[in-house]
Amino acid sequence: MKIIMLGAPGAGKGTQAKQIADHYSIPHISTGDIFRANIKEGTELGKKAKEYMDKGALVPDELTCDLVMDRISQDDCKNGFVLDGFPRTIPQAEALEKALEAAGQKMDFAIDVDVPDDNIIGRMSGRRACLNCGATYHIISIPPKKEDICDVCGEALVQRDDDKEETVKNRLSVYHEQTQPLINFYQERDILRTVDGTRPMDEVFSAIQAILGA
Ligand code: AP5
Ligand code: MG
Ligand code: ZN
Repeated sequence: MKIIMLGAPGAGKGTQAKQIADHYSIPHISTGDIFRANIKEGTELGKKAKEYMDKGALVPDELTCDLVMDRISQDDCKNGFVLDGFPRTIPQAEALEKALEAAGQKMDFAIDVDVPDDNIIGRMSGRRACLNCGATYHIISIPPKKEDICDVCGEALVQRDDDKEETVKNRLSVYHEQTQPLINFYQERDILRTVDGTRPMDEVFSAIQAILGA
């Protein structure tokens, strides 16, 4: 099964993608997580990506597309994968479609996790993330068992650099301009499905399971 998670920053794409990946035993591929891992390791890619991410802007398509195409061509993606945060622009969606077409494949579903802008700012200010394994928490709605420690791997949790209110506002406007048009793109291909992302996390996942089956 090949799935795309769509949705505004903070809609819960990562939270749901992790559950999908566990449940269906397919890799979770988050471009944001890949960039953050590169920033942490101080790679060239990380240095370039950080300039854009800190402003809430998108990393250029040239730096993003090859990375994803390379990742999905790896062996563990044979039975499918869940893309989280990619594609984010029409050119990225076209590049993905072309690469899959060349291999006689196509995406199965694009799931839009729908959350209004008003809910987003509060979510982001309470978010804590594990840069080691990618797990995400919220200090009020989804707290870790031990304060500031990842339940999954025991690493210290951090607040993301781009979760400051001003940067979040920027990310939201970038989303509306550049990413929201993908909703139409996938609607035209008849693979768009929408879930209400304001529901509690488990209910959102049940709605996704109902779409994906089993
Ligand atoms: P990325 O890391 O993808 O960030 P994003 O899209 O802004 O989305 P987030 O990760 O912030 O939110 P999410 O939807 O995953 O929500 P989460 O599950 O964490 O990208 C970061 C940056 O990298 C971009 O700005 C860009 O610069 C660059 N980048 C990445 N991909 C790119 C690409 N393809 N092209 C160009 N640039 C790219 O949940 C949010 C919070 O809400 C958490 O605290 C969570 O615990 C809580 N929560 C989740 N679900 C619920 C619920 N149902 N109820 C209550 N709280 C909930
Ligand atoms: Mg995320
Ligand atoms: Zn962790």
